Amino acid sequence: MRPESRHRYALPARLLHWVVAIGVMVQIGLGWASEWTEDRHASFQLIRNHYQLGVILAGLMAMRLLWRVAKGAPPPDASEPRWRSGTASAVHWALYALLLTMPVSGYVIWIWMDAPRDVLGLFELPALFTPPAEDETWRANAWYIHVYSSWTVIALVLLHVAAALWHELVLRDRLIRRRML
Ligand code: HEM
Ligand code: HEM
Repeated sequence: MRPESRHRYALPARLLHWVVAIGVMVQIGLGWASEWTEDRHASFQLIRNHYQLGVILAGLMAMRLLWRVAKGAPPPDASEPRWRSGTASAVHWALYALLLTMPVSGYVIWIWMDAPRDVLGLFELPALFTPPAEDETWRANAWYIHVYSSWTVIALVLLHVAAALWHELVLRDRLIRRRML
């Protein structure tokens, strides 16, 4: 074992981190593109792709959460002050929570839209409830949760990436390579 290995995330955690990181950025792009596209058909195709990728990301996040809870994370570097490793850990857990909340709220909106529930033609999510015909309260609530969560994810990811770049460029401690590559 290399002396550094104790501080590196295990291969499945590293792979899931980068696949989900790319997926979340594409997912946010699809959500926005669908909102901005005026052509109704094109807009629906984009949000349908958003649904399918969202279901895949939800599965990957669930696997990731199970892995994280079962195997834990490598200990922070001894040189890290307590406030910094504490903040990093809070941001990581908030991202886990939000990236699991978003598919749930998205699902509620989707069922209300009565849109196709298949994912790449491979499987279909069940409709777990029947939306009431007259009352759209929960559709609106889910929409607010979805949109505010997306802005919170963006803010936290910016903070997270800024911290990673700070380590890389200012502290020059090769954190990304040592722990996540
Ligand atoms: C949407 C984009 C991203 C999300 C949602 C995300 C999420 C996360 C989460 C949840 C963790 C904690 C892993 C765990 O404890 O299981 C983590 C760790 C990490 N991420 Fe990201 N990440 C993203 C993008 C990036 C990018 C672009 C970089 C590099 C520039 C990066 C660098 C790191 C590093 C170095 C760690 C390890 C931190 C440590 O424990 O020292 N992440 N990320
Ligand atoms: C990681 C997961 C997800 C992220 C990061 C995400 C992000 C976003 C973003 C940024 C928007 C645009 C919001 C705006 O207008 O500002 C959006 C809209 C939307 N998302 Fe998601 N989403 C995710 C998962 C899902 C899933 C799994 C579904 C469906 C099951 C879904 C359904 C929708 C719908 C229907 C809209 C359009 C809402 C409307 O304007 O009526 N999303 N999402």
